[in-house]
Amino acid sequence: MIQASIAGIGSYVPSRVVTNADLMKIVDTSDEWIIKRTGIKERRYAADDQACSDLAYFAATSALEMAEMEPSELDCIIIGTVTGDHPFPSTACILQEKLGAKGAMAFDVSAGCTGFMLGLSIGSNMIKTGQFKKVLVMGGEVLSRVTDFEDRGTCVLFGDGAGAVVLTAPDDSGSGILSTHLESDGSYADMLNIPAGGSRKPPTLETIKNRKHYLYMEGQITFKMAIRTMTKIGNLALEQNGLTIEDIDYVVPHQANWRIIEGLAKKLGAPIDKVISEIHKYGNTSGASIPIALDEAVRSGKVKKGDLLLLTAFGAGYTWGSSIVRW
Ligand code: COA
Repeated sequence: MIQASIAGIGSYVPSRVVTNADLMKIVDTSDEWIIKRTGIKERRYAADDQACSDLAYFAATSALEMAEMEPSELDCIIIGTVTGDHPFPSTACILQEKLGAKGAMAFDVSAGCTGFMLGLSIGSNMIKTGQFKKVLVMGGEVLSRVTDFEDRGTCVLFGDGAGAVVLTAPDDSGSGILSTHLESDGSYADMLNIPAGGSRKPPTLETIKNRKHYLYMEGQITFKMAIRTMTKIGNLALEQNGLTIEDIDYVVPHQANWRIIEGLAKKLGAPIDKVISEIHKYGNTSGASIPIALDEAVRSGKVKKGDLLLLTAFGAGYTWGSSIVRW
């Protein structure tokens, strides 16, 4: 049974391109190392006056245009983000005001790079139950603001951007979200986090001096778990829909590292040309990476009406999720 239709998709990346050569001026790294270990050639950084809701606004507008829908028609706005405009209120509420989506319920969800998948699951299930009819689901991040430019192991990986889908009640075309699957394991919470700035360690001069407000990651554990969990939940989605990987036209994975994407494709048994990746251009844009990659694939004509897609994501928590979508 189809949970919800996707009426429109959109994305936005800021215009400031940061190449590997640019990062070589800041940390001890090389273009060769970054490309070989991650596949990333460049990423985008938000302008100084751009916050998460500003990036989200452009992506949302583009998705609404494709859906031929006015913002005022939305019942609900969900943003997956860990770099919202403020600790509170939600970035979704700020976006609601920017869009003029009066009457919608707006909230953020926190699942690191799985944030968009979590929003997709909540939004499509809300439509399935009949609670809402038109839901904007987004992933948006300004990771450059929490990147430690003294840590060469992480600062080369991340970029900024936003992606959006507009969900509506399913029609009889057979297109839409067939299923969503979510899991987490909080025993890995310390492996990928921002150590300070919350109620555990409020900001002090000491936390700032010790660089505790920047993203921290245990790279190798995160790498292994990303492949393991995205494979597991990808296979779960296939099984629960009575599908095999041969039935899938494209896999759209979270874009964290090209080697993770290759490892995932191998374990799923998917030929690499069936995997959509924009990692070389944008790096890891966290919750925004799947809708950005899918939007570009749709707009370039690569993904066509009727194609069967497997989306799979992994992020801080650790959290992971998947979805089968008939485009
Ligand atoms: N440039 C040059 N050298 C670097 C470097 C950089 N940017 N970053 C790390 N190195 C060095 C290390 O210091 C280490 O040197 P040493 O052997 O002299 O100690 C060497 O490269 C190998 O480091 P290592 O951490 O073992 O590399 P890796 O192959 O594990 O790759 C990551 C590091 C971060 C690219 C990889 O672990 C990764 O992608 N992890 C997961 C990232 C991710 O998905 N995060 C988000 C999940 S949503």
